[in-house]
Amino acid sequence: MDASKPKMSVQIKSPEAIAKMRVAGRLAADVLDMIEPYVQPGVTTEELDRICHRYMTESQGTIPAPLHYRNFPKSICTSVNHQVCHGIPGGKRLKKGDVVNIDITVIKDGYHGDTSKMFFVGEPSVLARRLVTVTQQAMQLGIAAIRPGATLGDIGHAIQRFVESHGYSIVREYCGHGIGRDFHEEPQVLHYGKSGDGLVLRPGMCFTVEPMVNAGKRFIKVLPDGWTVITKDRSLSAQWEHTVLVTQDGHEVLTLRAEERDDPANP
Ligand code: MF3
Ligand code: CO
Ligand code: CO
Repeated sequence: MDASKPKMSVQIKSPEAIAKMRVAGRLAADVLDMIEPYVQPGVTTEELDRICHRYMTESQGTIPAPLHYRNFPKSICTSVNHQVCHGIPGGKRLKKGDVVNIDITVIKDGYHGDTSKMFFVGEPSVLARRLVTVTQQAMQLGIAAIRPGATLGDIGHAIQRFVESHGYSIVREYCGHGIGRDFHEEPQVLHYGKSGDGLVLRPGMCFTVEPMVNAGKRFIKVLPDGWTVITKDRSLSAQWEHTVLVTQDGHEVLTLRAEERDDPANP
């Protein structure tokens, strides 16, 4: 989300709300699993949008949250190569060597689940593979810092330190966000910062961690379509996103995909 919204309060979700967040998170992850085989050379991002839209509305009974959100025209975001985030699906065909982020947000029973991952179209370049891996690890390190008593600064610091140690840069204009009945709630979850700074985490908080990492400089611009964010220097950019709940003794990732649910690293 946009890192410049007015301050509201950070909610502690009730057990009933948390149960619904688990369902919404799982359904959002399922859309990423469903779309994977379709992400091939020659497909258009608009076709991917239609397939996701149909799956969400007809198979899942979910509402695609992006559609008509602040006039966003499609049901998913597709951000290709030097596009950082909020790419609008269109008629351009994916080609071998592209990398694409697909960002899915569903609403089920009034609650949002928000998650994104990177896909390789054919074989990626060495740089693309490295950037995508570092970005996923950065998200995972940020999530690993989440527990009661830790702060938002601990998350940002873990991400920034790791990304910059690889010579890449963090986009600062967009951040993670609280999530629940609203798509974007308080708090803002910056992907950079200082350990110990900021809000102290408490059980029942729900927010996303979604670092955007550029191979080049951190600067971005928004295209005239009003949505698509690209790197100013046209360098490659990657993003991964999970929705996370703060639990009594740590955290729970609500948007694990099948491959992650089978991984002993995610108990
Ligand atoms: N899913 C994005 C996020 O992670 C927000 C997309 S807003 C949209 O916060 F309108 F572009 F869909
Ligand atoms: Co998000
Ligand atoms: Co998202």
